[in-house]
Amino acid sequence: MLEIEVIQGDITKLKVDAIVNAANRSLLGGGGVDGAIHRAAGRELLEACRVFGGCETGEARITPGFKLPAKYVIHTPGPIFRDGFHGEPEQLKNCYVNSMKLAEENNCETVAFSAISTGVYGYPKKEATEIAIWAVRNYPVQKVKKVIFCCFGEDMLKIYQDVLKMMAP
Ligand code: APR
Repeated sequence: MLEIEVIQGDITKLKVDAIVNAANRSLLGGGGVDGAIHRAAGRELLEACRVFGGCETGEARITPGFKLPAKYVIHTPGPIFRDGFHGEPEQLKNCYVNSMKLAEENNCETVAFSAISTGVYGYPKKEATEIAIWAVRNYPVQKVKKVIFCCFGEDMLKIYQDVLKMMAP
């Protein structure tokens, strides 16, 4: 049974097998959690990301964590929210599914997610949280034992806690 935990904190500090970065399609860093992860990981992360030549929305790529306490970083560009009728829910779900797939393929036991697309990309927080929890809960895990949803702000923490309670099995 997959263990799910919700915490408030800075994902760059977590000593887990993989942290999941809310990237953009260039994979060359940016602001928000992407900027924080690149700053903490160091320059080598940018070099490792450059190799991919970008990544489509909903896809995911994995790199070492370099100076981060986490072993790996999984980079996934979330959808830029428009109105919810341009494939955004499916794309956001794919971010979580493809990140879990890479975590499994790399024998990760602990994975921490940032709240993909809920910052600059403007995804409504509650809907994004429902998609995140549903996708992770329904992933057929074999290697992953624990998923941590790492919320930066108090507001996201509360939303995750409320949605988890509402979706309790
Ligand atoms: N640790 C954990 N979560 C964080 C951190 C951090 N250090 N910093 C920010 N966050 C949270 C934000 O509060 C938000 O809930 O990550 C979530 C995602 O927000 P963004 O980082 O803005 O990512 P997103 O909305 O997916 O937009 C992606 O922003 O940073 C650029 O390069 C990135 O172009 C891409 C776009």
